[in-house]
Amino acid sequence: MASKFFSHAKIERNVTLLGVLSLVVVAIGGIVEIAPLFWIDSTIEKVEGVRPYTPLEQAGRNIYIREGCYNCHSQMIRPFRDEVERYGHYSLAAESMYDHPFQWGSKRTGPDIARVGGRYSDEWHVQHLKDPRSVVPESIMPGYQFLAERPLKVGDMKAHLTALSRVGVPYSAEAIEAANDDLQAQADPSLDTDGLKKRYPNAQIRDFDGKPGELTEMDALVAYLQMLGTLVDFEAAAPQEKAQ
Ligand code: HEC
Repeated sequence: MASKFFSHAKIERNVTLLGVLSLVVVAIGGIVEIAPLFWIDSTIEKVEGVRPYTPLEQAGRNIYIREGCYNCHSQMIRPFRDEVERYGHYSLAAESMYDHPFQWGSKRTGPDIARVGGRYSDEWHVQHLKDPRSVVPESIMPGYQFLAERPLKVGDMKAHLTALSRVGVPYSAEAIEAANDDLQAQADPSLDTDGLKKRYPNAQIRDFDGKPGELTEMDALVAYLQMLGTLVDFEAAAPQEKAQ
C-alpha cells in the first residue's frame, strides 16, 4: 500500500535512516525558531518612556540587591486579572530591559513592587523602611533603620555606568562622565540639575530621606522605589489598547 516514494515501514526498520531523518526534521524546526533572532536587533519591543536608571536610582537598586529585598518581593506583575487589579498594568518586557540583574522573582512574602513608585509619599517609605510595624502593624518585614544613618558611599559611578553600558545599557559618554555629579544632584535640587533632567527624562529630583544636605543610603533606596513602574504612561496608551 505504501508508495515506493515514501515507505514508512522502511524508515522505521532502519535505525540509522530513522535517526538521520529525525535530525533533519528537528533541525528544520530549530532553524525556523532560531534563525530570525540573527536578523532582529532586539526581542524586546521598544516602549516610550523607558530609560536607563539615573546614577542615584542605580545606587538604590544596588542597596535593594545588597539587602536581599528580592527574597520577599517580586518585580513582575503577571497578566492575570487578580494581579492587574491589585498591582496595576501587567509588566512589559521593556520595563526591565535595563535591569542587570533582573528582579522578576517568584517569591512573594511581601507584595510585588514593580509599580510601587508614587503609591506612597517619601515620608511613608522612610518610616516604613525604618520601622515597618509603625505604619503597617501586621507587617513581618524587617526594619532597615541603619539606611537612614549611613552616608551613601558608592565609589565611582562612572565605572559602574561604564560596566552597564558594556552589557548594552545605552548610557552616553556624556552621561558616564557626569555620573557622580548626577548622583549628587538628584537628591539636592539646589545643585545644577539641568543636565540630569536632560539625560534622564522624568527623573524625580528632591531630597528623599527628609534630611536635606545629607546623602544617605535611604535617599538612594527611596529614589529607586519611587521610580519603579512609573516610566511608561499607561493612561496615554489606554485608548490605543481598547481600539485593538
Ligand atoms: C522577610 C520578608 C521581607 C523582606 C526581606 C523585605 N520586605 Fe518589604 N514587605 C514585606 C511584607 C510582608 C510587606 C507587606 C507589609 C508591609 O507593608 O510592611 C512588605 C511591604 C513592602 C513595601 C510596601 C509595598 C506595598 O505595595 O504596600 C515596600 C515598598 C517594601 N516592602 C520594600 C522593601 C525593601 C526596599 C526591602 C529591602 C530593604 C524589603 N522590602 C525587604 C516583606 C519583606
